[in-house]
Amino acid sequence: EKWLVGIDLGGTTIKMAFINYYGEIIEKWEIPTDKTGKHITTDIAKAIDSKLEELGLEKSKLSGIGMGAPGPVDLENGLIYETPNLGWVNYPLRDHLELETGLPAVVDNDANIAALGEMWKGAGDGAKDIICVTLGTGVGGGLISNGDVIHGVNGAGGEIGHITVVPEGGALCGCGKTGCIETIASATGIVRIAKEKLELTDTDSILKEFADLSSKDVFDAANQGDYLAEEVIDYVTFQLGLMLANVSNGLNPEKIVIGGGVSKAGDKLISKVEKHFKRFAFPRVGAAATITIATLGNDAGVIGGAWLAKTKLMNNQ
Ligand code: BGC
Ligand code: NA
Ligand code: ZN
Repeated sequence: EKWLVGIDLGGTTIKMAFINYYGEIIEKWEIPTDKTGKHITTDIAKAIDSKLEELGLEKSKLSGIGMGAPGPVDLENGLIYETPNLGWVNYPLRDHLELETGLPAVVDNDANIAALGEMWKGAGDGAKDIICVTLGTGVGGGLISNGDVIHGVNGAGGEIGHITVVPEGGALCGCGKTGCIETIASATGIVRIAKEKLELTDTDSILKEFADLSSKDVFDAANQGDYLAEEVIDYVTFQLGLMLANVSNGLNPEKIVIGGGVSKAGDKLISKVEKHFKRFAFPRVGAAATITIATLGNDAGVIGGAWLAKTKLMNNQ
């Protein structure tokens, strides 16, 4: 039995896994992301070699690589158009990967592969019309319609993190616009909003005591009844529910899967997003969609990567 390599490239870590054709993870591990972007593919190739050595296996055990990257992707040429964080512009990621590892590779957007992972092995649960939104450092989106990821004409299909929810006077986004949902519902956005509120009001809040506030602290404080934290979560989930309702009216999904680090907030997040979602979605759309947390958690990306490799590279095996 051969294995696939699933890789999920993030801003701080690269998640890697050997996965079989049934989508079961055999080995998984992480390596740090080279923030200059210069030796990412070399690091990946080395990591694959040393893992194989550790397991006493040859390269021939592996049939191919499927990888997600945090920006829009030119599928045909395996290029990453832009990842501001890694300084890549039109970077030929697939070719570098293939050259360094000696394995065939296929590359797609990180949230797109997370959506594929959830469809195959996670919360998708047989559904073929799925919206996956990942709330992490950025806000990623994967739209699956009738089993296929929507890529659009130049790879930016599904970039729902950059839907404008504050048309005037919103915060500056990494994409260059202002008022994107990413500036609100990402981990960094939640913290920003909490800090703004702390400065603007004299409401007492336990958040004042945190030196290095995280989005998890805000959810925890809200769970403990902190009024200011609750207000922040209300605002964030309102905007997220509104955005998801608007996207859903165009796609009519069966499942809306929320992943990424912020999704660890679980029920608190889901119940609030759902309330706003139901209010803003077209009734028939709202009635059809179930909102859930990603069941694969941090593994969605690597499993989706394996799915991509399996379906795109192994057609004749
Ligand atoms: C990028 C997306 C990416 C997401 C999560 C966004 O800022 O535009 O392509 O999927 O961050 O990494
Ligand atoms: Na996407
Ligand atoms: Zn943006």
